[in-house]
Amino acid sequence: MQEANRLKRLPLYLFTIIDRLKEEAIKKGVDIIDLGMGNPDQPTPQHIVNELCSQAHLKANYRYSRSIDESEVKLREAIAKWYYAKFGVELDPENEVLPLIGSKEGIAHLSLAFLNNDDVALVPNPAYPVHFNGVLIAGGVLHNIPIYEKDGYLPDLKTVPKNIADKSKLLFLSYPHNPTAAIASPGFLQGVVGWAKGKNIIIGHDLAYSDIVFDDYKAPSILQVKGAREMSIEFHTCSKSYNMAGWRMGFAVGNRDILKTLAKTKSYIDFGTFKPIQYAAIKALTGSQSCVKKTVATYKKRRDALVAGLKEIGWVAPLPKATFYVWARIPDKYSALTSMEFVALLIKETGVVIAPGTGFGEYGEGYVRFALVENIDRINKAVKRIKRVLEMET
Ligand SMILES: Cc1ncc(COP(=O)(O)O)c(C=O)c1O
Repeated sequence: MQEANRLKRLPLYLFTIIDRLKEEAIKKGVDIIDLGMGNPDQPTPQHIVNELCSQAHLKANYRYSRSIDESEVKLREAIAKWYYAKFGVELDPENEVLPLIGSKEGIAHLSLAFLNNDDVALVPNPAYPVHFNGVLIAGGVLHNIPIYEKDGYLPDLKTVPKNIADKSKLLFLSYPHNPTAAIASPGFLQGVVGWAKGKNIIIGHDLAYSDIVFDDYKAPSILQVKGAREMSIEFHTCSKSYNMAGWRMGFAVGNRDILKTLAKTKSYIDFGTFKPIQYAAIKALTGSQSCVKKTVATYKKRRDALVAGLKEIGWVAPLPKATFYVWARIPDKYSALTSMEFVALLIKETGVVIAPGTGFGEYGEGYVRFALVENIDRINKAVKRIKRVLEMET
């Protein structure tokens, strides 16, 4: 069996290699501390689970979900209300809100919806992998915009050559940023919208971590920028804010024509999310947000413990203002290793799993990402084990 060329063009999925290394370690009886994948470990709040359970008993909820059905109408209204409360931006629930089966699905389908073979998509690198993989699956031409620590991991759009910008149809952005945990100011987003104006480029802003913010930082929405609605949509998710990663509930908001085309693409492929999950998402978005605060407070404690612990053992990493990631340069002692080699060494020697920077694109080389998805005791234990590796004779 020969898989399609579009799959052959995709970069190696490094988490597959990491899973294999993990399995080998587990077989040897190693206790794995998994700070690799950004897979939230805290439970979904009880009131959301309860709503799923009661809605799952209603026979009316078992049919295919259509956009005119009560559950979807109410969900789009709940999303618009949530968005207004959070960002002060009014959305027309019918035309400016589109529920997704998780935001990853929508991001991949945005490329499929708009890219012809010679169309270019601009993607900052490193990035959450579906930003570039979606482009490759769709058969588009990927143009990486390298982003660097010295620039706060913000892309300099002036470096995009004019002939590339002219052929570009899409620009992906995502702040707070996975994997670097970088943040953007409203001024930065304003600059991006100004740059895109008149260029026929769609901006897809992935705001998955809008709620996972610390120290009074507020993540801006791109739709807060005047004129952004002309060319932008924004992706959101219940996965991180409400610990609903496995539930698959996300949504896109913004430009109605872009959303219409995205909805058209999806209509040929899926039937949306199970209605009880939609009702549970409504509960999440319209209910008390104190559960979100609790989740963020937990990540903050973990962040502080990890960054302080690493500092104590001589590994300095910046304190992130958002996301549940810590992005760190490979310690000097091991800087001759690739990020994948360093991660493999850590798994073998300590059972601590982290993600290699190159899992997020070539410009992630030299860095690794910790996901704060284990409790503080386990994080402290991980630091102690890493200390051994930093003290090892090489
Ligand atoms: C930046 C970013 N966008 C999107 C997603 C996917 O979220 P969802 O569960 O909504 O597909 C993730 C998950 O880690 C992410 O980090």
